[in-house]
Amino acid sequence: MIPTVLVVDDDDGFRALLLDILRLEGYRLLAAASAEQALSILERDRADLVLTDRRLPGLDGLELARRLRAQPRPPVVVLVTAYGTIPEAVAAVRAGVADYLTKPLESPAALRRRIRDLLGEPAVADGSGEFLTGDPRLAELVAMADRAAATDATVLVTGESGTGKELLARRIHARSRRADRPWVALNCAALPESLAESELFGHEKGAFTGALARHRGRFEQADGGTLFLDEIGDLSPAIQAKLLRALEERKIQRLGGTEPVAVDLRLVAATHRDLAMAAATGEFRSDLYYRLNVVALAIPPLRERPGDIALLAPRLLSEATERLGLPARRLAPEALAALTRHSWPGNVRELRNAVERAAIAASGETIEPRHLPELGGAPSRPAVAPLSLEQRERQAILAALERTGGHREQAAELLGISVRTLYNRLRTYGIR
Ligand SMILES: Nc1ncnc2c1ncn2[C@@H]1O[C@H](COP(=O)(O)OP(=O)(O)OP(=O)(O)O)[C@@H](O)[C@H]1O
Ligand SMILES: [Mg+2]
Repeated sequence: MIPTVLVVDDDDGFRALLLDILRLEGYRLLAAASAEQALSILERDRADLVLTDRRLPGLDGLELARRLRAQPRPPVVVLVTAYGTIPEAVAAVRAGVADYLTKPLESPAALRRRIRDLLGEPAVADGSGEFLTGDPRLAELVAMADRAAATDATVLVTGESGTGKELLARRIHARSRRADRPWVALNCAALPESLAESELFGHEKGAFTGALARHRGRFEQADGGTLFLDEIGDLSPAIQAKLLRALEERKIQRLGGTEPVAVDLRLVAATHRDLAMAAATGEFRSDLYYRLNVVALAIPPLRERPGDIALLAPRLLSEATERLGLPARRLAPEALAALTRHSWPGNVRELRNAVERAAIAASGETIEPRHLPELGGAPSRPAVAPLSLEQRERQAILAALERTGGHREQAAELLGISVRTLYNRLRTYGIR
């Protein structure tokens, strides 16, 4: 489940900046301009972390923390204070505040790291919504996914980044007889080879130095339910062989174990690679490819179904304004035209982010092309923070990769982000 962060600040600009920094981390976001508004949002929604300004009109941030602490499932509270007002530490600790940040912010990377430490890793994609399309070809593919959902067939979902592979995989699970059993996802790309086997198949106590207790791998965790193996094209040949065996025998062996363990699950695999080509060139085992490719669902990129932009943009917009506590907004025809002209290399994820940024940038009810600066509209204010932040982030990633000679772990370390987040960014920005 994606962590939800509620940002409380009466300063519109600063609140937008915080939201933008956190949005890049993939959290589900809520926003409020006052403590009272935050409390009323939390009556009908939930948050894992509340990032609140200390000084607010009406109830202040400290009082908000106190009230939240009295709730049945209190969120983690982080207080933002102007530099130099920290020495109320004792009162803050008593109110249950977990951490402080000072204004002005040190850096977006530092903020992200602190929030991440408090929350744990965010999940990659939210995938809570419905899979929407008005495109006949894609609608037929969704119908095929629904037919496959009723069976136990292995499914292979392919498509570019952000086309909704995980969303479709979740839909298959939700419509299967396994819907009330576990959904277990594993991103094979973020997985060092040395860890892959124990992540997938688990290990016995003492299987290797540091294996202090028995660990159930994802196969066992998913027993009865659905196992989603994301970026399966990135698995090493050795692990591919073990995966093939597990699928053929419907049994796995824990690392260091002697007894095979029977597992009953449906596998959904996804990749943005051309797996048929990889199998043809020997980069991917062709016998495993055929085993995965029982039901093949290739989601077309958004640029090949421009009609979907007119369908998705307003839906993603109303979803974003509702989530962020903004008044409803509508897209001016020229703004929709600009969206339709864009080629969307990051597909629906990129569209969702663009629409969310525009909702924040627009102050009135209507979103105009100038609120979509990345699509060529002139920015509404000089240097809109959201855009420049993204550009800066892209540059920072390129610089970090250059400095580390392309070493991703080291680059992530330099940037103060997780390796997983770095991989996401590389995909979002189309950096190879
Ligand atoms: N057809 C759609 N209707 C509604 N939302 C969509 C659709 N396609 C994608 N999305 C949304 O776009 C975002 C990206 O989708 P998802 O994570 O499933 O993509 P993906 O193909 O798995 O991407 P990646 O390869 O980068 O992991 C999610 O927020 C998802 O809910
Ligand atoms: Mg995905």
